[in-house]
Amino acid sequence: MADTTDACREPILSVRNLDVTLKTAIGELHATRGISYDICPGETFAIVGESGCGKSISSMALMGLLPRIARARADHCLFDGQEILSLSRRQLSKIRGNTLSMIFQDPMTSLNPVYTIGDQLTEVFVRHGKGTRAQARDRAVFLLERVGIKNAAERLNAYPHQLSGGLRQRVVIAMAMMCSPKLIIADEPTTALDVTVQMRTLALLSELQKEFGLAIILITHDLGVVASLSDRVAVMYAGQIVETAPTAQLFADPTHPYTQGLIRCIPSYGEPHPDAELPTIPGMVPSLIGRQKGCAFRNRCPLAFADCAEGDTIALRETHGEHAYRCLRPHDALMAHWRGLHGEPA
Ligand SMILES: Nc1ncnc2c1ncn2[C@@H]1O[C@H](COP(=O)(O)OP(=O)(O)OP(=O)(O)O)[C@@H](O)[C@H]1O
Ligand code: SF4
Ligand SMILES: [Mg+2]
Repeated sequence: MADTTDACREPILSVRNLDVTLKTAIGELHATRGISYDICPGETFAIVGESGCGKSISSMALMGLLPRIARARADHCLFDGQEILSLSRRQLSKIRGNTLSMIFQDPMTSLNPVYTIGDQLTEVFVRHGKGTRAQARDRAVFLLERVGIKNAAERLNAYPHQLSGGLRQRVVIAMAMMCSPKLIIADEPTTALDVTVQMRTLALLSELQKEFGLAIILITHDLGVVASLSDRVAVMYAGQIVETAPTAQLFADPTHPYTQGLIRCIPSYGEPHPDAELPTIPGMVPSLIGRQKGCAFRNRCPLAFADCAEGDTIALRETHGEHAYRCLRPHDALMAHWRGLHGEPA
């Protein structure tokens, strides 16, 4: 983790008011609304939230990988000083896999089953003009060794299906690093792996980040992963960021009722008895079709009141430092509610 409690002056990525909409048979789906954040060089920024809240689609927009039915609009999305939403496919292909890489949940999304690992690792390096095929091979061996793959030079001749899921994901991490990116977007990079391999792979990603000074956007539904790996976090709900803070602060001072609910669902924060059921957040994420009114969390919120259904949207309010939350209730009332959940005096 980087020491990035203060906002950096020159973010590697600056996103302002990103809206992604999709044209569906039953109407316009507002997948993200007004997403804004800055990522500093060398930091890990986690995006967390339940399934369908817009974590992936907001990142796909940045990579120019949206489905045809989707449109992205923003005040700006500056990557390395360049407005990426207005780039052509050709211009984007020069950035993707080069200064901006992505690691997907399923390694087979990135690996082609009919080419060897070596072909695929070297191809990305040569295509981006980073050097010769021989230099690409040296770097591939170096990175495969670095991600813990033994006999790396021999492994270059292997096909993806000859490796385990954990090894394939390590290859994908090495591939994402081939061109020394400035930012890696890792979308649920370990969800498909078993628990012990997951932890090893995440630890590896974190080591590489420190060693090479790259920034990471870590997309996950797992707040436990967020707690151990990220510098700052954005909690998403129904297409919006509902709370954002330095990670330590979010856990010390979870303010939005949705964040509070998510944190209570982490085993270590849940019921003290190991056999007892963990608390869950009752209810479901609302439909994202059509214009949203008021607070999207109101049908699940224990603190909802009449005003929560009014207005176009709820504004983000700052508490202190870089901590902000999207709720009509004042900070004191929300913290009193959090303390009350733990049986402490409000
Ligand atoms: N190709 C598509 N066609 C229609 N709707 C889509 C498409 N891709 C995404 N969506 C919708 O956009 C919204 C945001 O989806 P997104 O994939 O970003 O969610 P997510 O937060 O990444 O969820 P998960 O944790 O399950 O990966 C969801 O309502 C989803 O159904
Ligand atoms: S705005 Fe209202 S419904 Fe939304 S989180 Fe705050 S109290 Fe709950
Ligand atoms: Mg996703």
